Amino acid sequence: MLNREGITALENPLARRVELHETLASTQERAKKLALADPGAPHGTLVVSKVQTGGRGRLGRSWGSPAGGLWMSLVLRLDLPLRLAPRVTPAAAVGVAKALREMGVNTRIKWPNDILVGGAGGRKICGILAESGGHASNTGGHASNNFIVLGVGINANVDPRDLEAQPRKTATLRSELGHDVDILELLETVLTKLDFELGRLHDFGAVIEDWRALDCTLGRRVRVQRFGEVVEGAAVDLGPGGALVIRTNDGIVEVFEGDVEHLYQGGT
Ligand code: BTN
Repeated sequence: MLNREGITALENPLARRVELHETLASTQERAKKLALADPGAPHGTLVVSKVQTGGRGRLGRSWGSPAGGLWMSLVLRLDLPLRLAPRVTPAAAVGVAKALREMGVNTRIKWPNDILVGGAGGRKICGILAESGGHASNTGGHASNNFIVLGVGINANVDPRDLEAQPRKTATLRSELGHDVDILELLETVLTKLDFELGRLHDFGAVIEDWRALDCTLGRRVRVQRFGEVVEGAAVDLGPGGALVIRTNDGIVEVFEGDVEHLYQGGT
């Protein structure tokens, strides 16, 4: 059962300070507010809500968050140069994908950070949202006085049709395993894996190696929407900083952010 005492008893460094809500607009907004307060919430501040009424996804989308899911946001204050902050997203994707595998689901990562299950096309079981904040000017370029709010939404004990996204494109732990899971156990597994991956951001080659082993984007034809333009081609590699390298008719393009559509080989 999910309660604050149980989460605190996990003694995970990512759950140093815990807020558990029955319902909240968005754990992401709450964690950001705590991080921006004076004094700002420390590394390892965890906000979980059993229901979100205004869950947010990437690119301004809404994120359906009914009871039964794991909706959480973490305040991270990492001792990392700001230029290395983009490493957090792939590391988090690796951590969550591994955690869900440990729960028995055969997950894959769709670049940049969607966790999918299933074969061709794949169905999304988890979304990750990493947002930076703070004041770059007074930190000497180091991220320690800044923060990242890492949001993770896992469709756990819910039916795909109860989520806002299209049911055919959505998976849940319930739909994959045929039974419900203990949310506290799920949270513990996720925090343990995240703490491990975030602990090796300085050894990013190892994270990328694991990312490649879990990836389902490389080798495919992709279409990426970014800043109003469309890049289409073959996803050929992952750059050392986590960018997606695409071979287009006009040459190689590196994409750092965007919405990726996996195309079937040969066109649509
Ligand atoms: C995506 O678009 O794939 C990212 C979805 C992130 C959803 C999570 S749920 C917990 C946290 N609170 C939010 O409002 N969003 C994130």
